[in-house]
Amino acid sequence: MNNPMLILLNLLLFTGLAACEPTSTGTKAEKKPETSKIHTDIEANAQGESAAEKHEETAAPDLVNGQRQFSKCKVCHTIIKGGRHKVGPNLYGILGKPAASSEGFRYSSALKKADIVWDKATLDKWIQSPRNTVPGTSMSFIGIRDEKSRRDLLAYILKETAASD
Ligand code: HEC
Repeated sequence: MNNPMLILLNLLLFTGLAACEPTSTGTKAEKKPETSKIHTDIEANAQGESAAEKHEETAAPDLVNGQRQFSKCKVCHTIIKGGRHKVGPNLYGILGKPAASSEGFRYSSALKKADIVWDKATLDKWIQSPRNTVPGTSMSFIGIRDEKSRRDLLAYILKETAASD
């Protein structure tokens, strides 16, 4: 399950680095070591912690944008403690919970069977595309494609549910 994500991260990293490479100024002799450095980085990433992930943790998320993103979820979800279920379940304290475990909400059988624990990675995947993550889910939401917006939104959700620390 992690592999496609890693490949994607590496691809993003590669295109990112490639875009930073000097095009007109660098001679071929100068370029060579840079290119091999990129390969080394990518190999290192494939094995261990990726540089993109590190970056993700160090760059401060934009909570204002996170709140703006959450307006897309509000139609169907409350996030305050003890908030009522709407079309979707209350999301208070979602981090660390097994999927489909809120009392008093009728989940789809697809989500009940999904065997997911909500952490940053699974939430990110879910928000990107609920239907691709759990085919048959009753959450009719197309997903948020922009990686930064998802990260901001997640930071906002974790802050609001007091589960960020
Ligand atoms: C159109 C209504 C709707 C919108 C919009 C919506 N959701 Fe949902 N959400 C649902 C429903 C319905 C479920 C239950 C899905 C199931 O049982 O398959 C759900 C489930 C979830 C779950 C799993 C909860 C659990 O207890 O396991 C999370 C997390 C979640 N939504 C987050 C979000 C976020 C974040 C957004 C905004 C980006 C969002 N949702 C937008 C309707 C919605």
